[in-house]
Amino acid sequence: MDSSSETSNNYTEDAQVLDSLLTKVHKIIIEYLNEGQNGTGKTLNYLSPKNLISKISPEVPQNGSGEKGYDETISSGLTCPGGSASNTLALVVARNKYFPYVTEYGLCLSDDEKKEVDYKTPVVFTSIHSHYSVDKAVIMLGIGKRNLIAVKCDESGKMDPDALENAVIKAIKENRRPFFVNATAGTTVLGQFDPLEKIGEICRKYDMWFHIDGSLGGSVMFCENERRVLLKGSELANSFTFNPHKMLGVPLQCSFLLVRDGLDEIRNRVALKANYLFHRSEDMDEDDPSSWDIGDSTVGCGRKPDSLKMWLSWRYYGTEGFSNRVSNALLCANRFSELIKERNDKYELFRYPVSNLVSFWYIPKCLRSTCKPDIFTESQKCYPEELAEVTKKICDLVNSKGEILLDYASVTLHEGETPVRVPEFFRIPFNSPIVDENYLEKIINEIEVCGKEIYGEQ
Ligand SMILES: Cc1ncc(COP(=O)(O)O)c(C=O)c1O
Repeated sequence: MDSSSETSNNYTEDAQVLDSLLTKVHKIIIEYLNEGQNGTGKTLNYLSPKNLISKISPEVPQNGSGEKGYDETISSGLTCPGGSASNTLALVVARNKYFPYVTEYGLCLSDDEKKEVDYKTPVVFTSIHSHYSVDKAVIMLGIGKRNLIAVKCDESGKMDPDALENAVIKAIKENRRPFFVNATAGTTVLGQFDPLEKIGEICRKYDMWFHIDGSLGGSVMFCENERRVLLKGSELANSFTFNPHKMLGVPLQCSFLLVRDGLDEIRNRVALKANYLFHRSEDMDEDDPSSWDIGDSTVGCGRKPDSLKMWLSWRYYGTEGFSNRVSNALLCANRFSELIKERNDKYELFRYPVSNLVSFWYIPKCLRSTCKPDIFTESQKCYPEELAEVTKKICDLVNSKGEILLDYASVTLHEGETPVRVPEFFRIPFNSPIVDENYLEKIINEIEVCGKEIYGEQ
């Protein structure tokens, strides 16, 4: 790993170059506006987005998001204000596709209307470890939490595809209509990747929209090896949420909803064709500037140009730069887990990291005989609740000192059908490219200093 001084110098230089790049773009935009002004300087002539784009030559590397990749000539995407919004838009699009009458009737239909449209209750599936934005979206769209099936995960935190298929079959037998499965690529707490290929096949078999929430882990698409393993099957997905504002470090907020079958998948289900603003017509030549306007495909109207941030960062760091950044995050998580393992009298690693997240407990001396590591073995499935308080107390003290910022989380695992609560553990997401071996040691030291302050002898 780089030494901290070398790394911080590199990044200071990087920041300066990026800053000058931003200044140049700023200048181009001001020129664009000035050029667009007519003689009086009071109004703007319309300059096409294409005209602007020709000035900033936006070549971006093309990268498929699955093992085989989406078809770059067809697939497309839109920026949304965050991963929650991208997931919500995916659900809106899928709902409007499978229940086209909903835009007219809503979901509160009379008995006669239900017969008319052959109404079936819409059902959504997601894993118990998925992000709460899926629950929120289901509530906002009037589908209702009762119709959101939380599919159990295996011991490692991956969605159990057999449990998914059984839940789908059950819903069909109940005369409901399963239509949307959310799989997660990088779960919020454990950083786990659901088995995308199997889930994709189930979606095909039962004709359901396959969405992948890659808000956290989607960025591994920039690392060849991880992409092939962790995102295998993502090419089957109808839509994919990708948050460059997380692991790629693009300034908040920057999130994309990528769609396999092109923007019309979204446009046809969402756009209201408000022609007083959007002048695009079906037969419009793609050279016509109005055809570039994709504004009515999102829930919002006016929006920030979030894609510019992604484009600038990508041009500056390059695919290799992004790849290095993600690899470093994964390496840090692995190295940190090793450091925890080396001190396994004081710590218990909850899970080996799959991506950039490490989950572990600190065990003070007074609890070491009762909260021994073997208590966590697969067969016993007993997680001592006392560790929740230890984690929270140390976390609060570390954070109050202001040197580093820590967080904690808890999860529910399944032993067969029985849910088992795993008490609060430290959850560290590695992301910053300037984190190095020294910094990893510093985190451990801070935890130990605070552990000693609270619990005495180490
Ligand atoms: C898996 C997952 N999905 C969605 C989100 C929400 O993303 P945002 O905060 O950009 O709305 C998060 C945030 O942590 C996440 O971890």
